[in-house]
Amino acid sequence: MAPEHRPRGRASPGLGQGRLIRTGIERALRHVRHDPLQIPALIWKNLCYPFTAEATELRYDRAMGIDTAGVIEADQLGHGAGAKCYHATPPGIAEFMIAQVAPRARDFTFVDVGSGKGRVLLLAARHPFRKVIGVELSEQLCRIARQNIRSAAHRLNCIAPIEIVHLDARNFVLPTGNCVLFLYSPFLNEVADPVINNVVQSFEAEPREIAVLYYSDVFPARLSLPPFVTRELPAQPRDRRYRYRRFDLRAVMFLLAPERGHALAGSA
Ligand SMILES: C[S@@+](CC[C@H](N)C(=O)[O-])C[C@H]1O[C@@H](n2cnc3c(N)ncnc32)[C@H](O)[C@@H]1O
Repeated sequence: MAPEHRPRGRASPGLGQGRLIRTGIERALRHVRHDPLQIPALIWKNLCYPFTAEATELRYDRAMGIDTAGVIEADQLGHGAGAKCYHATPPGIAEFMIAQVAPRARDFTFVDVGSGKGRVLLLAARHPFRKVIGVELSEQLCRIARQNIRSAAHRLNCIAPIEIVHLDARNFVLPTGNCVLFLYSPFLNEVADPVINNVVQSFEAEPREIAVLYYSDVFPARLSLPPFVTRELPAQPRDRRYRYRRFDLRAVMFLLAPERGHALAGSA
């Protein structure tokens, strides 16, 4: 399958700030005309709004020129049992986790398992991974991710090729060679277990370095058992943009390697 993004030269940024301001003013004038009594509530709402998680996400998307914000429940996406909602990894958290493997990016293919609208794909592709692959069950989210990549990959200086695969992660066949799998709380253990079993089978068929970067509140038990080696990260990721929202999740790296000493143990 052809990748959605092939690296080439830079394109110029275009964020449409003027249009955003005009739309804001037009909306405020509409309120004044239709319901003046609502104005104090409207002012209060607007004073608080910049501090909400929604506003933080939208500001980030606007700055990056992408559409990744928001939460979409699993049933709205038509997912069956075991899937969790769509929500993009907070950028600071994604960047922290990618940084754990970035020094050796050239040796690895990066796979976001449950890649949603593609935010992590774009952030990972700014490093020289062999390839960045997104595996996503929702066709609707794959479409949005492809659009995000088309509109932003060159501007964000993505240097790795990006490919999106519309597939249930349980049916995904791991590429050959060293791989990093990134999982941001995509599904419950009933789906995660077969995914992890496939990873182990792929490792047994072709022993190589496989790193599983997992950000979640629960982790499949299989990841704590041999042949996996658990590597607690030196610190837990934080995102200062999200200081108004609590995240009770934890980031852990689980490693598979033919010889333990060769794993990503010293790359952070
Ligand atoms: C919490 S979101 C993470 C999105 C993305 N990794 C990010 O951080 O921006 C989890 C994603 O997993 C997807 N998903 C759920 N079950 C899946 C499955 N069985 N196979 C592939 N994707 C799945 C959901 O549609 C959703 O987009």
